[in-house]
Amino acid sequence: SNPSILILPGDGIGPEVMAQVTRIIDWYGEKRNLAFDVSTDLVGGAAYDAHGVPLHDDTMAKAMEVDAVLLGAVGGPKYDDLDFSVKPERGLLRLRKEMDLFSNLRPAQCFDALADFSSLKKELVAGLDIMIVRELTSGVYFGEPRGIFNEGNERVGINTQRYTESEIERAARSAFDLAMVRNKKLCSMEKANVMESGILWREVVTRVHADYPEVELSHMYADNGAMQLVRAPKQFDVIVTDNLFGDILSDCAAMLTGSLGMLPSASLGAPMDNGRPRAMYEPVHGSAPDITGQAKANPIACILSFAMALRYSFAEGAEADRLEAAVEAVLADGVRTADLLGEEGVTPVSTSEMGDAVLAALDAS
Ligand code: NAI
Ligand code: MG
Repeated sequence: SNPSILILPGDGIGPEVMAQVTRIIDWYGEKRNLAFDVSTDLVGGAAYDAHGVPLHDDTMAKAMEVDAVLLGAVGGPKYDDLDFSVKPERGLLRLRKEMDLFSNLRPAQCFDALADFSSLKKELVAGLDIMIVRELTSGVYFGEPRGIFNEGNERVGINTQRYTESEIERAARSAFDLAMVRNKKLCSMEKANVMESGILWREVVTRVHADYPEVELSHMYADNGAMQLVRAPKQFDVIVTDNLFGDILSDCAAMLTGSLGMLPSASLGAPMDNGRPRAMYEPVHGSAPDITGQAKANPIACILSFAMALRYSFAEGAEADRLEAAVEAVLADGVRTADLLGEEGVTPVSTSEMGDAVLAALDAS
């Protein structure tokens, strides 16, 4: 049977950008003989409107069965006053939790045509292609004890950085696996100089390295890592780090390359029966209520998220390369959605016109 995909377009611009991905999925079926069984369902505010919950149990069950989930975005002003338990974000959090997606992949990739967009000098970022692997389900955002407590005559806010060896190990393995299909170079970041969890992190990563002798492993304190990312980002290929440092470092790395409308992500879990990780792919951006319904949304982040699915869920690395090259070609041709404007005299294209351009580049590939 064909590989299966569950599409959850969500809210706001989610359905607008996902519509372009659906066209690309159809293209692969027609032109590359690479057909997928696609089903579509509701998540976030859209699910709340239909079912009173941001993720229906049936949808959750489907997500556990498919080879990959593609998600658009959730949320919007219409849902801001909802009770916390049914907020759109809860749908997303439930998916991440029940699928146990412990490894979050955030590429920072610089397309040459957009190098001028970077916050850094062009020569520092041209050709940049790095991947940050962030542990996503443990660490200081989840560790106990946590809370605001009374202590004497004042209050104290407490969070606990806590990592078990097995939590570190599975995150490390997913980063080493990734390094093996990339350039066999991994940098692990923690603060082993001041944190026990950092000492353990470094120890476990070093131990896992024994199973990946071909990978060149280095260690760096995370604060130095932040500095190095901005000073000379091209020294890195894959970076692995914990939940908190990964949150900050991946946002920092993202801005090396420009618009939010360009940034894909993958969240991976344990291997399924087919040997591939349980996985959800989504653009980094949100539902962008300020441009919803105006055909202005840039679909590239969502399209590149599907390219990651081709690579990591469907073992179609060459087809992922083809799709990324199509995006690169379109950008080199000067096709720009409104968020990518900078050059003078360029008229922005609509969301579907960007989709047209990517499909044309695929046809020409
Ligand atoms: P946002 O990412 O939706 O938008 C931030 C800015 O970037 C806006 O000006 C928007 O127009 C622009 N932008 C984002 N994606 C774009 C694209 N593809 N093309 C062109 N421009 C784009 O973040 P914001 O405004 O903080 O949040 C809006 C809503 O989205 C909120 O309800 C928030 O909770 C939700 N959200 C959902 C996420 C998710 O589903 N994973 C992630 C972040 C926010
Ligand atoms: Mg963040």
